[in-house]
Amino acid sequence: MHEQTRRDFLRTTAAGVAAGSVLHMTGTASGRTGRGVFELEKQRLGKTGLEVTVLGFGGAEVGYGRTEQAIVDELLNSALDQGLDAIDTAECYAISEDLIGNAVSHRRDDYFLFTKVGHWAPEGVDGWSAEGVAASIDRSLRRLKTDHVDLVHLHSCALDVLEKGEVTEALEKAKEAGKTRFIGYSGDSLAARFAVETGRFDTLMTSISICDQEAIDLTLPLCREKDMGVIVKRGIANAVWRYDSEPEQGYHQEYYRRLKELDYDFTKGAAREDTGPDGAAGIAMRFVLGLPGVHTTVVGTTNPKRFAQNAELTKAGPLAAAQVEAIRARWKEVAKADWVGQI
Ligand SMILES: NC(=O)c1ccc[n+]([C@@H]2O[C@H](COP(=O)([O-])OP(=O)(O)OC[C@H]3O[C@@H](n4cnc5c(N)ncnc54)[C@H](OP(=O)(O)O)[C@@H]3O)[C@@H](O)[C@H]2O)c1
Repeated sequence: MHEQTRRDFLRTTAAGVAAGSVLHMTGTASGRTGRGVFELEKQRLGKTGLEVTVLGFGGAEVGYGRTEQAIVDELLNSALDQGLDAIDTAECYAISEDLIGNAVSHRRDDYFLFTKVGHWAPEGVDGWSAEGVAASIDRSLRRLKTDHVDLVHLHSCALDVLEKGEVTEALEKAKEAGKTRFIGYSGDSLAARFAVETGRFDTLMTSISICDQEAIDLTLPLCREKDMGVIVKRGIANAVWRYDSEPEQGYHQEYYRRLKELDYDFTKGAAREDTGPDGAAGIAMRFVLGLPGVHTTVVGTTNPKRFAQNAELTKAGPLAAAQVEAIRARWKEVAKADWVGQI
């Protein structure tokens, strides 16, 4: 008898999975593969039909932080062994694509691979051009040591670039050529809304968290109507509750400032230190994964133990409706007009 690869197996089971809130799913990583121990939920990623674990890996931190190869080897291989099946990276996360290619390309059938385009191109070429997009995808494939990725996202280009249509067409050509199975837009606010409205993308990657809720009304309902896959980035709000004072890292500052004003109970006192499902990280993650239309969240980390810890948090299931309503109500009460989705 032929032994199915893990991906073939997932393809044959994907069709029977209905869309819905991710934490109500019945499929589990351990149930399907026999390898995982965390019973991590899986969700059909919209019309792509890919079945992705609700917790994915975000490759920005290891890339920018130039994490040692040996640590990334351990981090990714142990996470894959525990059921992870979605790895996200990008053309511009420093050495992230190289690290991932070196660490796990030998077991390429075990994960879906997402990258992005727009912020790199050969000298003299515009990254936001058809030529730039094509060259960037070829470079990503080389660095990731694979002949195809599962998804390429436009990396947060501005609305006027999207409106021109040239880069979207270049992505469509890459899909036709088999270099990527699906295409998406990664970004926020009005550009994301426009991307969804075009109907040309299979997926949207966007920021949603306890500190970033614009997308919940702006894009999520339309993504559901169009059966788009939704991948949440920055889903635990960069865990900014861990800082005692304004973080040095500029990228974390906006959420830190917002959280100070939002002043949720579960990010203070004992809950702030609680690493369980009712602590700050658990509530933040369960809030995002319980939103109708969200399929997975890619969490960044340089810590080989983090995947197991975060996978455990997802097992507690969705927050009680009253808790979700309280987080939404607090946001609506406090959020300023310029608290738009953060790239
Ligand atoms: N425009 C775009 O397309 C775009 C923009 C931003 C991000 N992304 C993608 O989304 C991914 C995630 O975004 P992100 O890394 O910015 O944000 P994030 O996932 O919200 O935050 C990651 C940070 O949270 C910490 N963390 C993770 N789990 C934790 C826990 N249980 N308790 C305490 N701290 C925890 C990590 O620290 P440790 O290292 O200690 O675990 C890391 O510093 C990126 O890697 C990237 O793939 C895409």
